[in-house]
Amino acid sequence: MLTANTQAELDAFLDGRQSVLVPTMGYLHDGHLSLVRKARRYSEQHGVPSVATIFVNPAQFNDPSDLAKYPRDVERDKAFLEAEGLDAVYIPEVDEVYPPGRDWSVPIPDVARLPGLEDKFRPGHFEGVCKVLARLFEMCSACAAVFGEKDWQQLQVARALVRELGLHVLIIPGETVREADGLAMSSRNVHLNKEEHDRALAISRAIRAGGQELDWQRAERVMREILTDAGMEVDYAVVREAGGLVKNPDEAPAGPFRCVITARAAGVRLLDNGPWPGPEMDSGVAPA
Ligand code: PAF
Repeated sequence: MLTANTQAELDAFLDGRQSVLVPTMGYLHDGHLSLVRKARRYSEQHGVPSVATIFVNPAQFNDPSDLAKYPRDVERDKAFLEAEGLDAVYIPEVDEVYPPGRDWSVPIPDVARLPGLEDKFRPGHFEGVCKVLARLFEMCSACAAVFGEKDWQQLQVARALVRELGLHVLIIPGETVREADGLAMSSRNVHLNKEEHDRALAISRAIRAGGQELDWQRAERVMREILTDAGMEVDYAVVREAGGLVKNPDEAPAGPFRCVITARAAGVRLLDNGPWPGPEMDSGVAPA
C-alpha cells in the first residue's frame, strides 16, 4: 500500500487513473473497514485503484474543542488499511487541501440545510463537508466514493452534491456496522465510558421501537421518550422521507422513510438511523 502525503506522490501513483475513494477522518473502526472492503470490490470489478483519505477536516467542525479532541492514530489506521489490501492512503496537510489565497467553498445542496436536522445543531458543518468532498473528489480523481449509511444525512448530501456540481462520481452507500450490543460504530464511541456506552444503547433501541409504530408521529414520540428516559440529550428523533429528508410520511406518502436520530451521551454526539417501518414490519404493511 502506498502512503501519499502530498498531491505529487498521489498523482505519481495514480498516473492518470481514476480511483474509488473512501474519505475518512481516521481513527478507523470496523465500520470504516467495511467501507474499505466495498471500495476494494469496486476496484477489482472496475480496474481502478482503491484510495482512502485520512484528513480531519477543520472546515466541518463548528466547535474548536470537538476538533481538538477528535481521536487520531495514523499508524494504527495505516496498519488496518494495509491489512485490507487497499492500494493507497492519502494523508494530506490542511494547506494542500485548501491552498491559501482562494475560497474553496462550493454551493451547498438543499438537503444540507434542512430545518431541525444537522444544520440547526452544527451550523456550517455541511458547508465544510461539501467543501472537503469537492476537493477530495478532485484531488483523488474519484470516479466512485463510499459513504457509510450511519450518517444518513451526509450520504444524501454527498449524492446531491455530485448531482448539483455535475461531478461524475458514483456514491456507493455502505451499511452501518454495529457493536454486538447494537451501538453503531463511531470513532466518537471511544469517548464513552461503560455507563455512557450502556446509556447510548437507547439509540438503537429507539430506532427499533420507532420502526414498530405504524403512526409516524407516535414513532417520533416513542423514540424521544426512550432516549430521554435513558438520560440522553436529544437533538432530533424524526421520521422523514429517506432521500430528501424534508418530508414526513403525510407529505410524501410513497416513501421510503427513515427514522433518523442524533442524541448525546455525556456530551458525545452520536448518530444513527434505520428504516421506517422497521424490518419486521416491512412485509406489505402500509404506514398509517
Ligand atoms: O464522515 C466523515 O468522516 C467525514 O464527514 C468525511 C466524509 C470524511 C468528510 O470529512
